[in-house]
Amino acid sequence: MTEKPIAIKPVSLQANTKYSFCTCGQSKTLPFCDESHKQLNEEKGTCYKSLKIWPKKDVEIEVYSGNWEQK
Ligand code: FES
Repeated sequence: MTEKPIAIKPVSLQANTKYSFCTCGQSKTLPFCDESHKQLNEEKGTCYKSLKIWPKKDVEIEVYSGNWEQK
């Protein structure tokens, strides 16, 4: 079994609801996107976009991105 990253986020998701997850690490509402990637993209010339998820069932997940700071 592999060790989980410290910054892993447990999240409860509801069925048939769209969620946007942050991939850039700049969001103030991690693990969710707050659109901060747009400013980062302008300043740094990057092209981050959020990851969209629509669960088919209510589900609990744990998420982590290597771009998120260890908080
Ligand atoms: S704020 Fe990070 S992807 Fe949108």
